[in-house]
Amino acid sequence: MADVLALRQIRKFYGGGKAPKVEVLHGIDLQLGEGEFAALIGPSGSGKSTLLNIMGLLETPSSGDMAIAGEATQGLDDA
Ligand SMILES: Nc1ncnc2c1ncn2[C@@H]1O[C@H](COP(=O)(O)OP(=O)(O)O)[C@@H](O)[C@H]1O
Ligand SMILES: [Mg+2]
Repeated sequence: MADVLALRQIRKFYGGGKAPKVEVLHGIDLQLGEGEFAALIGPSGSGKSTLLNIMGLLETPSSGDMAIAGEATQGLDDA
């Protein structure tokens, strides 16, 4: 069965243009199966909220692949 959530080489940059470009997530690989429990820990500013927002489809990654229950999230419309 497909993982509930699968992330492969997820990167996230903020800024660019006039603002300095900051890489916040540097290539996250993560798989979570049904019934699995995981804790995300790290110091303030390490990217926890950014990662959770990406996992919750509130933000898009700058690059990398993500799938929910085996379905790629790229190209999904808002609905
Ligand atoms: N919308 C944003 N625009 C620019 N920088 C951001 C934005 N959101 C977060 N950041 C920066 O990304 C880094 C990670 O932030 P965040 O994901 O909130 O970390 P945490 O939740 O672990 O404290 C921080 O340096 C933060 O300033
Ligand atoms: Mg946070």
